[in-house]
Amino acid sequence: MPHQPSRITVIDTDPGIDDAVAILLALNSPEFDIRGITTVAGNIGIATTTRNAGRILVLAGRSDIPVIAGANAPLSRKGFDTADIHGNDGLGGVSFPEPIAQPAGHDAVAWLAQLLDEEAAGTVDILALGPLTNVARLLTEHPTSASRIGRLIAMGGAIREPGNIGLKAEFNIAADPEAAEIVFASGQPVTLIPLDVTRKVRADRAYLSALRAAAKPAATISAELIDAYFQSTTGGESRPLHDPCVMLYALQPDLFGCERFGLGVDTGNSGDAGALLFDTNAGEISVAMTVNSPAALDLLRKRLIA
Ligand code: BDR
Ligand code: CA
Repeated sequence: MPHQPSRITVIDTDPGIDDAVAILLALNSPEFDIRGITTVAGNIGIATTTRNAGRILVLAGRSDIPVIAGANAPLSRKGFDTADIHGNDGLGGVSFPEPIAQPAGHDAVAWLAQLLDEEAAGTVDILALGPLTNVARLLTEHPTSASRIGRLIAMGGAIREPGNIGLKAEFNIAADPEAAEIVFASGQPVTLIPLDVTRKVRADRAYLSALRAAAKPAATISAELIDAYFQSTTGGESRPLHDPCVMLYALQPDLFGCERFGLGVDTGNSGDAGALLFDTNAGEISVAMTVNSPAALDLLRKRLIA
């Protein structure tokens, strides 16, 4: 695939095993001019997601990229803890170096607004891999800056698939349903990457072996991370690569087939809070519903072993 011109990119994330693989994919892809990693509480608390973003950057030799800590809790409810899946350190116990630089303060939202104001309108993309708390705050606290976002691509939700934290609720949306509702209603050019596609992009043991055989740092560490995911979850011969699908969509949208839906979010207090609701009165957003899985896995592997 010929490389597209590089686009200014911010990764908003809660690393997180699959977040880490997604970040490594982005760092190995010249199409992304990564200006910063903003962090959010999600898979684990904000101190750990922020530390992990710094650890991933050191491992990749990219400590020049700033890490800016964001929201330490959802907009209006208590966060979840997924230490059972991502480990107490958020990265499955896989060995990473410590961050070199301190995170640049605790104001990811103001930092994002400033970047959007400084760059030409429509040139800054946000790739969102966690709960949408920071993005929702950007939209509500800095609407003029937010209107300058280029692409907003977010992993979250389940349309025709069951959820992974409730009957229909998916983790990122359920972790902050109010934030997701703000984002969906914003009129921004949102593309949602739900479980309907991420569950179809799966790494099996043979895929891990191919990553390891390349003996390249990003591939080896990704194999270790996915291996940790195998150890913390039971059943099945493969594991879904949720967050890397955001980067894969940004790199090559034609790997995915999208439909447009008006979506609301269940913001109640049932066990299925965060479930997506079809809303014919809501403005439509683009939702990835099909994926060319072999081609997506191939692109991920090629970039990690580069
Ligand atoms: C999402 O939830 C998190 O646990 C993963 O990192 C991913 O962003 C999948 O539902
Ligand atoms: Ca995530």
